[in-house]
Amino acid sequence: MDRYAVIGHPIGHSKSPLIHSAFAQATGQALTYTAIEAPLDGFAATVDRFRADGGRGVNVTVPFKLDACAYATDLADSARAAGAANALKFDGSRCLAENFDGVGLVRDIVHNLAQAVRGRRVLLLGAGGATRGALLPLLEQAPALLFVANRTVGKAQALVQEFVGRGASAAVLAGGGYGDLGNAAFDVVINATSASLGQERPPVPASAWQADGLAYDMVYGKGLTPFLQDAQAAGVRHLADGVGMLVEQAAEAFAWWRGVRPATADVIRRIHVPLN
Ligand code: ATR
Repeated sequence: MDRYAVIGHPIGHSKSPLIHSAFAQATGQALTYTAIEAPLDGFAATVDRFRADGGRGVNVTVPFKLDACAYATDLADSARAAGAANALKFDGSRCLAENFDGVGLVRDIVHNLAQAVRGRRVLLLGAGGATRGALLPLLEQAPALLFVANRTVGKAQALVQEFVGRGASAAVLAGGGYGDLGNAAFDVVINATSASLGQERPPVPASAWQADGLAYDMVYGKGLTPFLQDAQAAGVRHLADGVGMLVEQAAEAFAWWRGVRPATADVIRRIHVPLN
């Protein structure tokens, strides 16, 4: 049977084996999917061993997404732009790299949550790896404005400059600190910071929220995070965590590996934890 795995450190919490097993069953694909914890300094050796044992592809999670990019021989645009990969496919001596996190995010927002990005004002919080992965897929939706706000202002500015230098419209993509937001309001506010992991909140000004807007936290299974609590308190009607993004990026990887795209709604429903 074809073998796949997710590699991370730690990896015990990963929902990927459950998700991919459900996809395989639903699509009638014969494969196994396991979780592998690689030593922090042993990503490449772990992947080499998995390939030698007949592995066909892997998902890659924290903290190895940059190592995965360095390991690959062929980078898709998504991985090159993000400087990080979350899926690898082995093809003889070649190793192809993709980053499906951003596509998964956009699919979840646009298809599952039925919230438009096109023509709307989007606020993206954070300037780390999660934001890098999300930028291109969000820009492809043609928002009216995509503002990247970060605690360390220079990081947001440098990231925006990098993407504008590669062709993004400076009229659409802008960045700065939370203090630069002024009284501007946004239809979609996405938390791509790691603040929720420590039960902290990014300092979103009250004027940024819109009642008929969407507040999206990329973390999942943490219930109403301080970010989502703030959105709720401000009257934002649509609140979401990142469980749909997780399942959608998995579906993209599955389709890339197996040539068949699994349905996602049932799996999302199975692993979704109510927000309150
Ligand atoms: P990831 O790969 O998950 O994006 P990262 O590269 O470590 O992780 O980036 C974490 C992001 O969360 C950064 O943008 C960080 O802001 P700084 O660049 O100023 O460090 C942001 N972040 C983490 N904790 C935060 C908090 N409590 N408030 C606001 N931003 C926070």
